[in-house]
Amino acid sequence: MVVVSGSSHPKLAAEIAQLLAAPLIPCEISVFPNTEKRLRVLGEVKNQDVALIQSLSSPVDTLVVETLLLADALERLGARSIKLIIPWLGYSLQDKVFLPGEPLSAKVIASIISHSFIERVFLLDLHNSSIPGFFSVPTEYISANQLFVEYAKASFDLKQVVVTSPDFGGLKRAKQFADALDVDMVKVEKTRDRHTNEIIETHLQGEVADKIALIYDDVIATGGTVISVAQTLKEKGAAQVYFMATHGLFVGEAIKKLSQASAVDGIVVTNSIHHEQLPERTTVLDCAALFASALQ
Ligand code: R5P
Repeated sequence: MVVVSGSSHPKLAAEIAQLLAAPLIPCEISVFPNTEKRLRVLGEVKNQDVALIQSLSSPVDTLVVETLLLADALERLGARSIKLIIPWLGYSLQDKVFLPGEPLSAKVIASIISHSFIERVFLLDLHNSSIPGFFSVPTEYISANQLFVEYAKASFDLKQVVVTSPDFGGLKRAKQFADALDVDMVKVEKTRDRHTNEIIETHLQGEVADKIALIYDDVIATGGTVISVAQTLKEKGAAQVYFMATHGLFVGEAIKKLSQASAVDGIVVTNSIHHEQLPERTTVLDCAALFASALQ
């Protein structure tokens, strides 16, 4: 096997290549003056199985096109197969049609990937576990749950810990986490305005006084959920609040807002998305080994 990196996360690709003891094939990726992507795969891939690593992070549309161009270039060079590792699947939060006239965006992305030379897709902790069904090529669904379980066991006095999901949609995921730690759960429900996406209400059911509250979620985007749920838990007497999510998108003003959020004692994410800068008090768990072992 050889490894090819898209431009979204070369560091993670290099780590995966090292864990697989596989060569990392160099590529030239640049942009034409008219903003179209220009790329060239420079190494030998003929008759090779290729692991292509590409987080569909920001700028997402450009990275989707880059991924398809890389797949085409690899096919033309005679690669035997491509396994696409997508640590963060862009458009996966648009997994339902909420209002008439909206597209089913996650399915559109899955469909264009499935109609390329890509043979198999590896996905990490999706917002909606039915998204793999949108692909018409085989997918492997990888969970970072164990990374968070090990981190929590090593970092907290579990007798003081309660786990919560920030909404009903994430309850199953949070319950698996709570069960693995053998700790209690409390329930939080946030309500968003369907049109503005702003959080308008956050309710708590359960006892958190003097507890260490671990909020377990799939993604941090604007950071609004982190701040709103952490504030509610602190108002109800939680001693400490940590927000754990597989994917740290940190869009817009999230880094600044989260760094200033006094109710948040810590944030824990994986390195599914590359960032030059992170919010203060953020810990990053390495997901490279999860992908390397799935590829073996
Ligand atoms: C929503 O259902 C997700 O699980 C996350 O809670 C949400 O996407 C986080 O978004 P934000 O950081 O913008 O509040």
